[in-house]
Amino acid sequence: MKTNIVLIGFMGTGKTTNGRRLSRKLKKEFIDTDFLIEKKENMKVEDIFKKYGEVYFRELENQIIKEISKKENKIISTGGGTILNPQNIQLLKKNGFIFLLQSSTDNIIYNLKNSYKKRPLLEKKNWTKEVSILLNKRRKLYYRDADFVIKVDNKNHYTIVNEISRLY
Ligand code: S3P
Repeated sequence: MKTNIVLIGFMGTGKTTNGRRLSRKLKKEFIDTDFLIEKKENMKVEDIFKKYGEVYFRELENQIIKEISKKENKIISTGGGTILNPQNIQLLKKNGFIFLLQSSTDNIIYNLKNSYKKRPLLEKKNWTKEVSILLNKRRKLYYRDADFVIKVDNKNHYTIVNEISRLY
């Protein structure tokens, strides 16, 4: 039986915040893949990208997913690029249901306006354009991998967490 809840979605869709709340509500431990990568490397995600590049980061991400996908009864929040490697999702699906947090481009831009500088793929002058480009490239992948799609625009955390709990 699958007992994990896995949150996927673009940067700024609330995977970490909703994951934490979900973990409190369902009394399951919360795991955040970016946090585990940072802990393992003792470096911030943006520094890993700067120093070693994206390919290296994706390798770390895949290693962490290999480890955590064996666990049970967890709420797992993933990085926005987890869907880029099909093996990641294959692994996560073994013990978990995949919930896509889906949001409009405008909403994502609004949510990222104070934190885009911490996102190495957006750390540029025309970061809003980059959000649209990346979203267009990835949209299909998010939908392909989702067991459930949760629309998050104009909803508070309470509503989102309740929706996920009800479907799970
Ligand atoms: C990334 C998303 C980030 C982080 C890294 C790459 C991406 O996670 O893993 O900056 O490729 O979309 P969040 O989705 O938590 O911001």
